[in-house]
Amino acid sequence: MVYDLLIRNANVLDGSGAAHFRADVAIQGERICAIGTMPYATATTIIDAEERYLAPGFIDVHTHDDTNVIRAPEMLPKLTQGVTTVVVGNCGISASPVTLTSEVPDPMNLLGNVEDFRYPSFAAYANAVDAAQPSINVAALVGHTSLRSQVMDSFARPASAEEVAKMEALLRQALEEGALGLSSGLAYRNAISAPTTEMAPLVAAVGESGGVYTTHLRDEFAGLLEAMDEAFTTARDGQVPLVISHLKCAGAGNWGGAGKALSKLEAAAQHQHAHCDCYPYTAGSSTLDLGQVTDEIEITITWSTPHPEQARRPLKEIAAEWNVPLLDAARKLQPAGAVYHNMSEADMQQVLAHPLSMVGSDGLPNDPHPHPRLWGAFPRVLAHYSRDLKLMPLAEAVRKMTSLSAANFGLTDRGEIRIGAYADLTLFDLAVLEDTANYETPIAAAKGIDLVVVNGKIAYHQGAISDQRAGRMLRRTERISHTTSFTSNKEQTP
Ligand code: ZN
Ligand code: CU
Repeated sequence: MVYDLLIRNANVLDGSGAAHFRADVAIQGERICAIGTMPYATATTIIDAEERYLAPGFIDVHTHDDTNVIRAPEMLPKLTQGVTTVVVGNCGISASPVTLTSEVPDPMNLLGNVEDFRYPSFAAYANAVDAAQPSINVAALVGHTSLRSQVMDSFARPASAEEVAKMEALLRQALEEGALGLSSGLAYRNAISAPTTEMAPLVAAVGESGGVYTTHLRDEFAGLLEAMDEAFTTARDGQVPLVISHLKCAGAGNWGGAGKALSKLEAAAQHQHAHCDCYPYTAGSSTLDLGQVTDEIEITITWSTPHPEQARRPLKEIAAEWNVPLLDAARKLQPAGAVYHNMSEADMQQVLAHPLSMVGSDGLPNDPHPHPRLWGAFPRVLAHYSRDLKLMPLAEAVRKMTSLSAANFGLTDRGEIRIGAYADLTLFDLAVLEDTANYETPIAAAKGIDLVVVNGKIAYHQGAISDQRAGRMLRRTERISHTTSFTSNKEQTP
């Protein structure tokens, strides 16, 4: 038999969290068809891994790449990290089912301009993704704030019963057309007026269809634990698996709180399906939010519509130069983007290392001076946190970006190296692996990602990008498994 692709002499990390083993991996069409020692096998393309690590392609469960997978289908920030699937539509904002004709509400403006919101149905969006032929796979959530934008004339109040019914109808249709589930961004000013009762029928619709609910909590600062309770209740009542987005203890007054938050997550996970995602940095980034403006932490402006010349400068400096209080300076800069250095390293490490957390970049691809997580999150976890700081074994770090992610988001036959699974693969050289993106120079490809295979096709090899882009829209067809409990997760962790 002549295989299509054969990767020889790899140290295989199969995604399960188990230790690596030496093997050759053979691919036929878009799937893995043999794993083992195959000295006599032949293939159209043979790549010698020279004992480097071969892992399932990484799954970025927290992205805002909704319109970029169409506008910039090469998806370089992700492909160069070894990411083979992105989950878009997080934090309550999604490109579908949405059409806009005038101003783009905050923070939907993170996704693009008014002309980018032109997908009245999930199916229209999914077809546009397929037509764009992205280099990597795309799976999508529907955002609660996006639903609000379609049925409400004002965001500053709870939705009426009639409006909730309209949102539910839009959501149900999207779920039928392959959406993974629902996301919310309850901390944002355009969603914060939504009470739990507005979320309940929407989350219940997700539960009925077998989807997932992800939430950017109502409060990541002093009210974190109460906000977590709200999320657990909403998810439990709706009978949906829950993912808390970018779990963090934000604000200097809350540093040291990760242990409590994680105990709470563990306690909930005894009774319901609950996980979180995490990016490996101590700064967050989003639109400039007046509620987060404080002199306790460093805030850097990344873009500003009225004052583009102030990008890349600390807010403090701008305020001093303008001789106005911080808040007034922020107001003058809006709409704007910011990086907030609002977490402690110890808290972030605790969340990142926890067996219930997955890696998600939360990268902002339309930011002209983006947070370095956009280009660096995955290599940074493997190189800096696993290899250098030994925060977790390499196999466990890989599990958090592959099999755990695929299971929690219902990505069937992804996130594992096993016979029959899709051949989404990443080969990396641990000795040279490095996230080169940093706050000063955030647009920089990682070093040490040697080969990326998507659906059996070489997408990236030794720094060269293939023009044969083999990614596709992953429409959900099955119910997302609800069975993983905290106990079984714990057993997988060495
Ligand atoms: Zn968020
Ligand atoms: Cu986000």
